Amino acid sequence: MATLQIEKWERWFLYATVVVLVAFFIAIIASIGEAGIHLPTDEAQVDPAAVASGDVPPFDHPGVYEQPDGSYQAVVVAKAWSFSPAEIEVPAGADVEFVVTSTDVIHGFLIADVAVNGMIIPGQVLKVNATFDEAGVYDIICHEYCGLAHNQMFGQVKVGGAG
Ligand code: CUA
Repeated sequence: MATLQIEKWERWFLYATVVVLVAFFIAIIASIGEAGIHLPTDEAQVDPAAVASGDVPPFDHPGVYEQPDGSYQAVVVAKAWSFSPAEIEVPAGADVEFVVTSTDVIHGFLIADVAVNGMIIPGQVLKVNATFDEAGVYDIICHEYCGLAHNQMFGQVKVGGAG
């Protein structure tokens, strides 16, 4: 009888495993289809050395640019250990597309209080969007260890003239 009990529980574990796998699979499909969540893709490749010498648009002019549709594009170059520009100013409610690359090593690109959490990989272009509904100062943090002064590598998004 004891053996049968074990088999019963093993069978339950098998069922549970299948249920969990199917649930996770459905969650992945739903996240892609319903929520539009996806892994960053190869938006573009750039030569980090050419970016460093200012030869690659739009990275030859880092800054914030208002778009014809009223949104903003922030072009950011990361290098050890700073973001250029270090301050990005937009009005409250702004939709901002960040276009970011690195001239040297891998950096992080995390913006506090909004859903921006990316990796800046030399040779790759990171594109992420965020909407800043509330006025305030949002810290941009490098959260990938990138060397001695990694802990001092940050920037700010100033929304609605705050700060
Ligand atoms: Cu850049 Cu840590």
